[in-house]
Amino acid sequence: MKLSKIILVSIPVLIIAPLAFVYSGIFNIAATATHDPVTNWLLTKTRNRSIDVRSKGIEIPDLDNEQLQLAGINDFNSMCAGCHTAPGREPSSLARGLNPPAPDLAESVLEVPPEKLFWVTRNGIRMTGMPAWGVSHSDDEIWPVISFLQVLSDLDGEDYQEMLKNAEGKGHHAH
Ligand code: HEC
Repeated sequence: MKLSKIILVSIPVLIIAPLAFVYSGIFNIAATATHDPVTNWLLTKTRNRSIDVRSKGIEIPDLDNEQLQLAGINDFNSMCAGCHTAPGREPSSLARGLNPPAPDLAESVLEVPPEKLFWVTRNGIRMTGMPAWGVSHSDDEIWPVISFLQVLSDLDGEDYQEMLKNAEGKGHHAH
């Protein structure tokens, strides 16, 4: 086949078919619909590689610091628990409607290193419900939450309530 013919045949495939897909409304944008496995793989891989590359070189302060963790639990409780839940709590109506779901951060922290937790918290994740907290908070206000996450998986519902009590007056969301 001549090059001109190949180009002529490719036009409907490369331009018209995707446009027909977009304008037909056939794609279900509902949060209750799920992605097919290929789209899901592409989105997850793209997300993970983007975070890997962008979180490199972030300097981590000393997170093993009780005062930082006490400040962090108040901020976590006000800023994060509504979507990510907290120990001893059932997922909220908001959390149950999210797609992708907000993962349980007690599990995330076992797999995701602090610089990535920090990067995601500061910058958010586009086209998911995960907000960019760095738009409204300085790095110094975000690190206490990351510090608290390091102990989150050790807490049951009672420990969490106890720690919240001890954290009175701490953090920028102090109660
Ligand atoms: C409005 C809902 C919402 C709030 C509030 C929220 N998140 Fe998220 N978060 C999400 C969603 C949805 C995801 C999943 C994004 C994805 O699948 O890529 C997520 C993902 C994350 C991840 C990635 C976890 C992993 O396993 O890779 C981290 C870290 C995170 N959030 C931290 C926080 C912190 C810290 C706060 C509070 C300062 C917070 N989030 C508040 C919705 C929320």
